[in-house]
Amino acid sequence: MRFHHTIFFVSLLSIWSLTFAADLQQAFIDDEEGDSLTRTKPTYIGGWGGVICSTCLLKPDTTKAYKGTWHDTTHFASSNSSSGINFEFTGVSLEVFCILPPNNVEATINYSLSFNLDGKEVGMPFVRTPENLTTEYQYNVSVVNLENLTNTEHNFTLALDNTVDSVALFDYAVYQFESSATGTAGGQPTSVTQPAQTGSNGAMTDFRFGFGEKLLGTALTMIILSW
Ligand SMILES: *[C@@H]1O[C@H](CO)[C@@H](O)[C@H](O)[C@H]1NC(C)=O
Ligand SMILES: *[C@@H]1O[C@H](CO)[C@@H](O)[C@H](O)[C@H]1NC(C)=O
Ligand SMILES: *[C@@H]1O[C@H](CO)[C@@H](O)[C@H](O)[C@H]1NC(C)=O
Ligand SMILES: *[C@@H]1O[C@H](CO)[C@@H](O)[C@H](O)[C@H]1NC(C)=O
Ligand SMILES: *[C@@H]1O[C@H](CO)[C@@H](O)[C@H](O)[C@H]1NC(C)=O
Ligand SMILES: *[C@@H]1O[C@H](CO)[C@@H](O)[C@H](O)[C@H]1NC(C)=O
Repeated sequence: MRFHHTIFFVSLLSIWSLTFAADLQQAFIDDEEGDSLTRTKPTYIGGWGGVICSTCLLKPDTTKAYKGTWHDTTHFASSNSSSGINFEFTGVSLEVFCILPPNNVEATINYSLSFNLDGKEVGMPFVRTPENLTTEYQYNVSVVNLENLTNTEHNFTLALDNTVDSVALFDYAVYQFESSATGTAGGQPTSVTQPAQTGSNGAMTDFRFGFGEKLLGTALTMIILSW
């Protein structure tokens, strides 16, 4: 009996330390440089310009864009074509940031975006008209924030609505993934920073507790069976 108790507490201890070693980390997908972990660049569907774009009417400030770059496209409903961005990531959350244009330029400034994850429409469509804009460019505007995903590979697409004229100025995306200090979840990333300031940490904590409880449940079952 005593021996069983010892095993029980040793198992519990190692399970708890594993649980707390499992950690949430953050990676970025820059419009130009791509994924900070995998270096994979997003795929742009349709015609996109960027920082160096003589025909682009919208000229954000490079010093205010993430890593000084963005990707710009205008989709015209009359073109009968698709415009969007596609990339894959492995993680439990994803937030995409765009730049909004000012309302005093002679250009298409309406935004109309929808989002697809693993073949399903997700999030709320992001729609902005001139009445929603200001006379300044707006940076770091979250257009979609997906949470509570499984820590597996996901296929994300941002699509410009093809029934109206719409612009998109994509700056970057942030995703969070589970990584364990024991190195079982894909090793240590090379480029991570402090937790996101986007308010999704509550959900992440829940996820972690769920994981711990599951392990605890398994351990208890094992103990009861061996008793
Ligand atoms: C946008 O957010 C990033 C990351 O939090 C920050 O480094 C940058 O200064 C912000 N840019 C602006 C213009 O607020
Ligand atoms: C739009 O494109 C689809 C296929 O890409 C084609 O079947 C359709 O005829 C096109 N419509 C117009 C009005 O050109
Ligand atoms: C954008 O403006 C329209 C018209 O004023 C308004 O109905 C809508 O709620 C606004 N959307 C946002 C996100 O502010
Ligand atoms: C994520 O899950 C937590 C707990 O299960 C829940 O409180 C939260 O609302 C969820 N977030 C989203 C965006 O579904
Ligand atoms: C990702 O999804 C899009 C459709 O939303 C599809 O065209 C593409 O082939 C998918 N990519 C992968 C690698 O499965
Ligand atoms: C922008 O959106 C408004 C409101 O939906 C619409 O009246 C206007 O025609 C749109 N402009 C363009 C260029 O699509």
